Amino acid sequence: KILILDFGSQVTQLIARRVREAQVYCEIHPSSVSDDFVRSFGAKGIILSGSHASTYEDHQLRAPQAVWEAGVPVLGICYGMQTMAVQLGGEVAWSDHREFGYAEVRAHGHTRLLDGLQDFATPQGHGMLKVWMSHGDKVSVLPPGFTLMASTPSCPIAGMADEARGYYAVQFHPEVTHTLQGTALLTRFVRQIAGCRGDWIMGNYVDEAVARIREQVGDEEVILGLSGGVDSSVAAALIHRAIGDQLTCVFVDHGLLRLNEGQMVMDMFAGRLHAKVVHVQAQAQFLGHLQGVTDPEQKRKIIGREFVEVFQAEAAKLKAAGTGAKGAKWLAQGTIYPDVVESGGTASKKATIKSHHNVGGLPATLGLKLLEPLRELFKDEVRELGVALGLPHDMVYRHPFPGPGLGVRILGEVKPEFAALLQRADAIFIDELRAAIDPATGKSWYDLTSQAFVVFVPVKSVGVMGDGRTYEHVVALRAVQTSDFMTADWAELPYSLLKKVSSRIINEVRGINRVTYDVSSKPPATIEWE
Ligand code: XMP
Repeated sequence: KILILDFGSQVTQLIARRVREAQVYCEIHPSSVSDDFVRSFGAKGIILSGSHASTYEDHQLRAPQAVWEAGVPVLGICYGMQTMAVQLGGEVAWSDHREFGYAEVRAHGHTRLLDGLQDFATPQGHGMLKVWMSHGDKVSVLPPGFTLMASTPSCPIAGMADEARGYYAVQFHPEVTHTLQGTALLTRFVRQIAGCRGDWIMGNYVDEAVARIREQVGDEEVILGLSGGVDSSVAAALIHRAIGDQLTCVFVDHGLLRLNEGQMVMDMFAGRLHAKVVHVQAQAQFLGHLQGVTDPEQKRKIIGREFVEVFQAEAAKLKAAGTGAKGAKWLAQGTIYPDVVESGGTASKKATIKSHHNVGGLPATLGLKLLEPLRELFKDEVRELGVALGLPHDMVYRHPFPGPGLGVRILGEVKPEFAALLQRADAIFIDELRAAIDPATGKSWYDLTSQAFVVFVPVKSVGVMGDGRTYEHVVALRAVQTSDFMTADWAELPYSLLKKVSSRIINEVRGINRVTYDVSSKPPATIEWE
């Protein structure tokens, strides 16, 4: 496995993703870990990340001394290169000004890291790489034992290597996709240079994860909040595979789910997997508390609070009695690696634009032990694991769905009749997206979009149908493309598809007589309307 030491770069997680794509297991830890930690981690290779800022204080950050005594290859990236230089006896020219952008780097020598990797060659026959680079601070004097590995006109030492010790460093960022050979470079480092085997694939992981869960849980019982989303579904399938009936899933139906969602979740988990699922029908309770409430944040808070209350009541019952002799001792959650790394506080400074509800406080109040079997997986790995566990492709590759559900897609007051209209309109949109295949890619428009849904707009507009005038509601279609949900573009859906969706909704859903398409990107709009 590979140890990634994080100096606080925004893109450290991408290093981990690229390494995992090379089928090598890795973990991110803060650069401040102790020497003992580094020694006992047992890495076959170590990667030093970049850093987010160039303040004077950050220049004091150093890799633990044990990194240099571990006898394994080390790759420094950006700030990681600079600290490598300083710690091994070279020099760095620090600068207040840093720029992140496109650069063309020339490779020097025939290092194991870069030899043969190139995007184009100069007329003189020099291999060139197209990369993304942080300009500003730069290594000015190579440490003893190092040779020049890469350069640009503005950064004469853009890469350095000490091949005898297996130390490599680059000023550019191989982890971002703009660096075309970045994945190849990282793969070389972890596979060829560090010698990792490349056996990190989800098919292998299932047995290991199952064994670990069995060992952790023993004969005790586990409760899991099942939402029908990807993470909780995969967690449920995995834990069920490990401990069968010792697992009880609690599925809270707040009445603001997609059409037939409740049925689908029950069919899948209770029906096909034969898992124990408690289907809590709490529709009336949720909708009751939402009556008369129009403020989006208020709605979120109410739904979040009710959810905790309902779930807690169920969990308390299972804890007291269980179905076995002892009662439940564990609460399972579908926490995934990005959640862990972000809450670890290495570099997360995101502003809270909307309060996302979660059930993070539950284990403490319930006195249950926490079981998080997906803690070390990225989203795409969770999906692969789901497939390896036999969950249907459509379920595992679903668009995300917010916790408060249709509660934030019915603008203003949430009324049961609005929810019923919205569910039907939304189902039509999703069906048509799945059915429409883009000839250029061969993929469905559902797969070509990251999230798509219908929003209920509580205004009425005039229409005409047959001989009569109508005065009914408006909906908006929303479809976006994004890789991280922090920014998003509205999807350029084909007009023919929009036309079909619009005519089906207006003809089939009585109460809606106008369909619009949202052409706002994020920022400045958000993906959801509330
Ligand atoms: P926005 O609307 O902020 O959404 O651009 C970004 C992503 O977050 C989802 N989202 C939520 N998820 N609880 C959730 O679990 C929420 O309250 C919530 N609000 C937004 C949204 O669907 C999108 O994927």
